Amino acid sequence: MSRRSLVVHTVAALRRTVARWRKDEHTVALVPTMGALHDGHISLVRLAQRRARRVVVSIFVNPAQFAPNEDFATYPRPFEADLAALAPTGIDLIWAPSVESMYGPGFATRIIPEGPAKVGLEDAFRPQFFAGVAIVVSKLLIQCAPDIAVFGEKDYQQLKVITRLATDLDLPIKVVGAPTVREPDGLAMSSRNGYLSGAERAQAATLYRVLRKTAAAIAGGENIARVIDEGSGEIEAAGFQLDYLEVRHADTLHKVATTADGPLRLLVAARLGRTRLIDNVAV
Ligand code: PAJ
Repeated sequence: MSRRSLVVHTVAALRRTVARWRKDEHTVALVPTMGALHDGHISLVRLAQRRARRVVVSIFVNPAQFAPNEDFATYPRPFEADLAALAPTGIDLIWAPSVESMYGPGFATRIIPEGPAKVGLEDAFRPQFFAGVAIVVSKLLIQCAPDIAVFGEKDYQQLKVITRLATDLDLPIKVVGAPTVREPDGLAMSSRNGYLSGAERAQAATLYRVLRKTAAAIAGGENIARVIDEGSGEIEAAGFQLDYLEVRHADTLHKVATTADGPLRLLVAARLGRTRLIDNVAV
């Protein structure tokens, strides 16, 4: 059955609803999103529903994590379509704060994550990104006070940064990672895939193909530097500008020399025209 979920726009209304659930001893999960929902987001919702009695989805395009030259103004905001996408899931609540309520006049607090946020991957190309994610995710977790919060492995470094943040700030919340949902050709679903032209979309699946091939070669004991070089060449030959293709320790994201340094994760970021895509796989 499909019904519209309750939408709240103020912290007070959010807290009132969650407090009611708590009185009934219901567990609560939060799924933070920036909207423009696709099946990847919905899979997080489904996972959250398996883990908790009540599920809140937040929809908030967070200005703090966009650099001035990035796509904050043009980021898709199809709020009505998002409500329709969530309706069949039967989630309990949509938390949709305004920018003014999240960052009111005089807002002056920053959270600067280190560790996995400073390893020379996304942070090297988007220097403000993880501080912006850290402040908004901290606020969302404190506002909603869920038992668990679900994040996608699609944004692997983000998942590690948030896991660290929850531990370091003693938030009594379990951060749960969810597998990446892909298009039939392997392209990881993303709200930004809509930016791709037809020709770019046809090339975009190269990223996942190269990731899989490179990960298999590394797991098979081939020389890491050589297969990374080959994979980088294939990505560039498909028309991408490569930001990085790197194999790292799956937990710390530190550099590794051999498979013996594992568990390993292979991560990529590359630009195709005006669209920046990221993806990763286990090795
Ligand atoms: P957004 O890009 O909307 O993603 C919301 C959540 O969905 C993130 O945890 C992301 O990793 C997950 N996700 C995105 N694509 C996915 C896919 N193809 N398969 C599985 N999960 C996927 O990430 C953000 O928003 C923001 O940075 C946020 C954490 C909400 C803070 O503003």
